[in-house]
This record gives sequence, C-alpha cells and structure tokens, in this order.
Amino acid sequence: MFRSVSLLSKLRSRLGQQPSLKDSVRWLQIQSSSSDLDLRSQLEELIPEQQERLKKLKAEHGKVQLGNITVDMVLGGMRGMTGLLWQTSLLDPDEGIRFRGLSIPECQKVLPAAKPEGEPLPEGLLWLLLTGKVPSKEQVDALSKELRSRAVIPDFVYKAIDALPVTAHPMTQFATGVMALQVHSEFQKAYEKGIHKSKYWEPTYEDSLNLIARVPLVAAYVYRRIYKDGQVIPLDDSLDYGANFSHMLGFDSPKMLELMRLYVTIHSDHEGGNVSAHTGHLVASALSDPYLSFAAALNGLAGPLHGLANQEVLIWIKSVVDECGENITVDQLKEYVWKTLKGGKVVPGFGHGVLRKTDPRYTCQREFALKHLPDDPLFQLVSKLYEVVPPILTELGKVKNPWPNVDAHSGVLLNHFGLTEARYFTVLFGVSRSIGICSQLIWDRALGLPLERPKSVTMEWLENYCKKAA
Ligand SMILES: CC(C)(COP(=O)(O)OP(=O)(O)OC[C@H]1O[C@@H](n2cnc3c(N)ncnc32)[C@H](O)[C@@H]1OP(=O)(O)O)[C@@H](O)C(=O)NCCC(=O)NCCS
Repeated sequence: MFRSVSLLSKLRSRLGQQPSLKDSVRWLQIQSSSSDLDLRSQLEELIPEQQERLKKLKAEHGKVQLGNITVDMVLGGMRGMTGLLWQTSLLDPDEGIRFRGLSIPECQKVLPAAKPEGEPLPEGLLWLLLTGKVPSKEQVDALSKELRSRAVIPDFVYKAIDALPVTAHPMTQFATGVMALQVHSEFQKAYEKGIHKSKYWEPTYEDSLNLIARVPLVAAYVYRRIYKDGQVIPLDDSLDYGANFSHMLGFDSPKMLELMRLYVTIHSDHEGGNVSAHTGHLVASALSDPYLSFAAALNGLAGPLHGLANQEVLIWIKSVVDECGENITVDQLKEYVWKTLKGGKVVPGFGHGVLRKTDPRYTCQREFALKHLPDDPLFQLVSKLYEVVPPILTELGKVKNPWPNVDAHSGVLLNHFGLTEARYFTVLFGVSRSIGICSQLIWDRALGLPLERPKSVTMEWLENYCKKAA
C-alpha cells in the first residue's frame, strides 16, 4: 500500500538519481488514470493488504522494544513516548510534517490544484491521506463532487446552535453543531443492528465522508450567525471544497480562495500525538462513531496551548499595535515580548511539543504572504517577530523550541483578506482537522485497532518504584 508514495521512492532509488518529483508523479497519475474514480472502491482494494501487513508486523516484531519510559516522560505529558499507530502522517522534529511521506512543498508540487501553479486542493490531500496515492485531477474532481452531494445539514443542527447565546465562543457553537450531526451517524445505526466487526470501517467511512462534507456548512453557519446577522450563504455547486468554504463564509476573492485551499491542506493532519488527533483516536477506540470522536477532538483543539493559539496570536499582535503602533521598533517589540513573559504568559505562536525548527506550515504561509501581501503591515510585524522572539525564548533557557509554529502566521493572512474576527479562527482549524482525523479513524476501524488503555500510576507508586530501582 501506499503504493504510489513508496513507488515514488523506489523509482527514485532504482534510477540512482533524483528525477523531478513532478515527472514521477505524472507517471503515477498515468497509472492511476484508468482506475476507478471512486475513493471507497480504492480503499476496499487496499484494506486487505494492510490488514495482512499489520498482522505480520505484530507476529514477527511484536516484542521489539521501542525505547525506555522514564519518570520524566510520565510527569512530562508523555513527551517523546512512542505509543500510537498513525498512518496518515509523520512529524519529524527538524523537517516537519510529511503527509504519507510527502512534505508540504512536495504536496504543493504534486497535488492537483484549481489552477496552474495554484495551491493544492484539500480533496487531493484527503485522497492522499486515505490511500497513500497521489490522485489525478479527475479523481479529485470526482471527490469534490461527492463531498458536495453529501453536504446536507438537517435543520435541527442549526436549531441546536441557535439554542446557544450568540456570544458563545465559536468553537462551542461549532462543536455543538458537530454533536447534533451525530444524530444521523451510520456507524451508530449499523452497530445497533449488530454489524460484524470486519465491516466496521464501512459505516465509519460513510460517517467520515459525510462529516468532512458537512463541517464547512456548520462552521460557515456559526460565522454568519455571529458576525453577519445570520445571513447564510448556500453552497455553490461549481466550487471545490476549500473555495466553497471561503464562499460560504462570505469571501470570494480569488486570492482568498487560494489561501483557504492552502490553509485547509496544511492544517489537516499533524501525526497522532497532538491533543486533537490523539483525542479523536482515543474516543474512537471505544467504538464511538466519527461524530462523537471528532467533537471530542474539537474540544481539545479549543485549548489555547493547541488550536486556540491562532486566535491568541492575532489578538496579541493587535494588542502590540494598539500599544506601540504599526511602526514599532525592534526594541519596543523586545520590551513587549518580555512584558508578556513577565506577566506569566506564553508568547503565542512560538514553541512546539515535537518540532525543533521553524514549522514548515509557517514557512509556506510566509511564502504566500511574500507573494500576495508583502506590504501588509501586520505581515511585516510577523516578520519582525521572527527575528525578535526566538532569541528571547532561547535566553529563558527552558524553551525547547523557540521557533514559530503554524499559528504564528495564519491570522494575519486571514485578517488581510477581511476575515478579521480572531475568535473564529480555531473553527477554521477544526474544519481542516476533520480531514486528517477522520482519515485515520477509517483506518483505525479497517485495521481493527483495539481500545486505547495506557497504564497510569500514582506519585506514591513512582516513589516506591524508584526507591527499589536505586
Ligand atoms: C506549544 C507548547 C504548548 C509546547 O509545550 P511544551 O512541549 O511543554 O514546550 P517546552 O518543553 O519547550 O516547555 C518548556 C517551558 O517553556 C515554556 N514555553 C514554551 N513555549 C513558550 C512560549 N511560546 N512562550 C513562553 N514560554 C514558553 C513552557 O511554558 C514551559 O515552561 P514551564 O517549565 O515554566 O512550564 C508551548 O511551546 C507553548 O505554550 N507555545 C505557545 C502556544 C502555542 O503557540 N501553541 C500552538 C502550538 S502549535
């Protein structure tokens, strides 16, 4: 499996040279162009061989050790502990994320776009995450169409959101809408009817595709309800996933459509251990359906150390401008950063639990800004922060990664194109995450992954254990 991506590397090594990625992918696309345009049929073919692969791995290497667990790891939020299987993406501390083996710049090169040299279409990434294969434009178009046909929201979902005060945080309204969508869970229905476990992945697939198709509508409803007097914009049958989301929010400029395609693609997945992905996976391991699992994931994403950081960044940047003006000097900026730290707060958008270099999701957004909005004053401030913050965080002596992450940049791009409401930003992140989390949930069920249940211990247990070990 994941034939195409591994084929790509085999192809490279066989030729003993580095053929351009574009050429290799074109070759792969020719291979796949005659195949079915239906994503589900593709999965049906892939699942048996992956089940065999997992069985073999377990039988042949089940007892191989992957490292030692230290007391620091137990007390330190399990940092560095390898403990999860997550097929769709892998995070390297220095290189950043790879989706099925492809880095962000590679995805930008090889995934189909809406226009020549354009940003990747998120549907293409969904296809890649689920199958490990780079899809053709025809396959992506077919998936776009399928997602549009699944994008139907029962009225009670809107009513559930309307029951909340309009002042409720957008993430609360969004997660409530996702919970209401659960009423139509195919998995729950099938389970109640007594479905055989070998078939679990099928209703999980249906729920996941429905969920991915529907969350932009729920998210756009929340935005229009809070900020645009409830004037809802319907889905446009001619637009792709990212463009449609932007359109339903009320932003139709071609550059904003491109930004949204890029945004959704790069925010979709970040391996399995981050709070939202891990939560989704954990909850789903109890055979909770994708809606229940994804709503739980969203509640984790809503925390300020995780997804909410994108809101915090723009609010923080705007507070810098309010206090010091747009033409802030480097010295003033340093002073402001120190003031934040001395106030016992984090500098939002910097640091990471795994990454140890500048986040490539930050870098590609910076490139987008350099291309489309180089003179934007807030972008220039973000660029200044890139110079000022890392040395200060390094000086603190305890921060493991002083470099900017994805959230340091996204807000100023959205703000530039008129999406200025920072409190809403995490909802955009949430919509994107549906693609990564649901792709893995389908594989969780296809591979029959078990209930997640790590061992916990008390301080007393640890003290006694360490005494004995000394
Ligand atoms: C992302 C984050 C939660 C990772 O946490 P972590 O893995 O525990 O990070 P570290 O091991 O480097 O933390 C060590 C210390 O440095 C601090 N630190 C890390 N990043 C910091 C930042 N951006 N500003 C100030 N202090 C920071 C931590 O709070 C911790 O302090 P403590 O020992 O007093 O509790 C952390 O870097 C952070 O809070 N960043 C700001 C929020 C953010 O941007 N989140 C989005 C992440 S994609």
